[in-house]
Amino acid sequence: MVKIGNIELGNFPLLLAPMEDVSDPPFRAVCKDNGADLMYTEFISSEGLIRDAAKSKQKLDIFEYERPIGIQLFGSDIEHMRQSAEIASAVNPDLIDINYGCPVKNVACRGAGAALLQDIPRMVSMTAAVIGATHLPVTVKTRLGWDDHTRNVEEVAERLQDIGVAALTVHGRTRVQMYKGNADWELIGRIKDNPRIHIPIFGNGDVNGPERALEWKNRYGVDGIMIGRASIGNPWIFNEIKEFVRTGQSAAPPDMIERVAVVKKHLDFSIRWKGERTGVFEMRRHYTNYFRGLPDFKSFRMKLVTLTSVQDIHGVLDEICGFYETMHAQVA
Ligand SMILES: Cc1cc2nc3c(=O)[nH]c(=O)nc-3n(C[C@H](O)[C@H](O)[C@H](O)COP(=O)(O)O)c2cc1C
Repeated sequence: MVKIGNIELGNFPLLLAPMEDVSDPPFRAVCKDNGADLMYTEFISSEGLIRDAAKSKQKLDIFEYERPIGIQLFGSDIEHMRQSAEIASAVNPDLIDINYGCPVKNVACRGAGAALLQDIPRMVSMTAAVIGATHLPVTVKTRLGWDDHTRNVEEVAERLQDIGVAALTVHGRTRVQMYKGNADWELIGRIKDNPRIHIPIFGNGDVNGPERALEWKNRYGVDGIMIGRASIGNPWIFNEIKEFVRTGQSAAPPDMIERVAVVKKHLDFSIRWKGERTGVFEMRRHYTNYFRGLPDFKSFRMKLVTLTSVQDIHGVLDEICGFYETMHAQVA
């Protein structure tokens, strides 16, 4: 049984990765339906929270059925991180996560996210300040190190555990790698081999389906896996991995009726939560992923990304269902 503080996550939990502009409540809802064991919000700027910025505040929206859910914070100023941890704790998530992995310039070059990997004492102080500001368990998500010369995550794991971090997720890339090359899980496995480490260690990076999930579970001994990109347009991946880990058999992929039903749920929730205009607009980035690989999909896609009325979009989704259900087409 994997536990973060008192939160019981079962055996080998699967985590939905925090993803900016992706893992919002509508997307989280369909991932929860399909087996995600622990989910995180998109990262939230500590500066934004303190300034009471609407965009940051909205990201604090969490729902009872989402539990267990973590709110992820990032920032460069220790006092502001402490205050934002207080603000986030007040909405009563199950845990607070700190982002020490974000590689993008805007974040990492302003002393936040992965930048803290260059200054471990500062990372430790920031983490201690957050832990001191909340009654909730605090977890951390980070990378292997800043670059190939400073792959210091093993030291990071020990130091963070020593000050009370309750679990650690490691993305198997350095900051300099951004998203390029392959994720390297060797170091993640080495953290698990360290007899001093007793907190859960979750592996992240490039898990793209059940076979790889099981292979890397066995090879690296991680306590669970966090999945990001492979869940976009494919929230079924969580239950598919669970089935494969449990039985060694692949679950049948969702048929077109199920696929369209999930897309509709995602769309309708987006509209409820963001308003019709933004909900319709932001859903456009998901269609290609939900219907990837379908033959002759271009004309349907064009309609999905240009129509503005919810009813019309539902109509196109029904057409897609009818068209591909009879073709028995498989989504790639
Ligand atoms: C669109 C997008 C947004 C992301 N936003 C965040 C974020 O807000 N916080 C974070 O810790 N990581 C973020 N990440 C990184 C992912 O959580 C994850 O570490 C990374 O994608 C590697 O996992 P994967 O190969 O399963 O996608 C983001 C990744 C993507 C693709």
